[in-house]
Amino acid sequence: MQNLEGRVGVVTGAASGIGRSMAEKFSQEGMSLVLADIEEAALQEVVSGIDASGGDAIGVVTDVSSKQAIENLATETMDTFGAVHVLHNNAGVVAAGLLEDLTTNDWEWTIGVNLWSMIYGIQTFLPLIKEAGEGHIVNTSSSEGLQASAGTGAYNVTKFGIIALTETLSNELKSFPDINASVLCPGPVQSRIIESERNRPEKLWNDGVPAAGLVDNEQSSDLLAGAMDPAHVAGQVVQSIKENRFWIITHDDTKEVVRQRTEALLKDGSLSASLYDFTE
Ligand code: NAI
Repeated sequence: MQNLEGRVGVVTGAASGIGRSMAEKFSQEGMSLVLADIEEAALQEVVSGIDASGGDAIGVVTDVSSKQAIENLATETMDTFGAVHVLHNNAGVVAAGLLEDLTTNDWEWTIGVNLWSMIYGIQTFLPLIKEAGEGHIVNTSSSEGLQASAGTGAYNVTKFGIIALTETLSNELKSFPDINASVLCPGPVQSRIIESERNRPEKLWNDGVPAAGLVDNEQSSDLLAGAMDPAHVAGQVVQSIKENRFWIITHDDTKEVVRQRTEALLKDGSLSASLYDFTE
């Protein structure tokens, strides 16, 4: 899709961080937008900002881990704009902990928001994008989809899964030259990701209490302090859609770790060092 003007886009996790910047960038490109998030007030703020700058957006409060909610999102999109061209599956959360400590609730929450959401998104929206005849699906993975740091195992599993899902999607779209897919693998980006627990539903709390912190250690704070501006990420995503690039790797150190990992794998089957350690 070289021209996004007049096209309809859906962005999940649009109330904050990367999703919010995507919404603003897509709007600057002249798209009509359906913005989905579980945080109603923050979502409304983004919609109002886009309206105030002359854009066209609606907000749909959505828990992306629910198939019914994703189906409702599609219905709202079709009822409002009559078509959909771009889907950015972006909402995500992180639960911190060693594999031996992560609970079934931690896994269910993370897999639901990060991975089932994208499966439901493809099931629900791909037929609609095919109806439109042209489009693009972007799925947000992570540098943790290309290597797996200690301390965020459930997150890493979902992010590897998103790469498999998106690669499969791209391969299955070979006979649809006007519909394509990209996977976004950001390194550290300024956002509220380390405060993910704010959105964990009560039924998935551990021992009946909300977790206070998450990846709350010195390394994660340092990482996010020097992190990339999400507006820069949004620019890279839009460029990649226009140039039909599959991999959107925002940070050079992610590319370097992929190179080292592949070299070690081919050379002697060893595992090269990971980028981060969230247990320290
Ligand atoms: P963020 O926390 O600022 O934004 C995430 C948004 O998702 C929030 O608006 C939140 O309300 C929403 N959300 C959470 N649970 C939801 C649910 N069940 N249904 C609907 N919306 C829900 O974080 P950020 O960083 O902007 O995250 C966006 C994506 O980027 C995530 O998939 C994350 O894993 C990924 N990512 C972020 C990196 C970073 O350093 N910020 C690095 C690599 C990947």
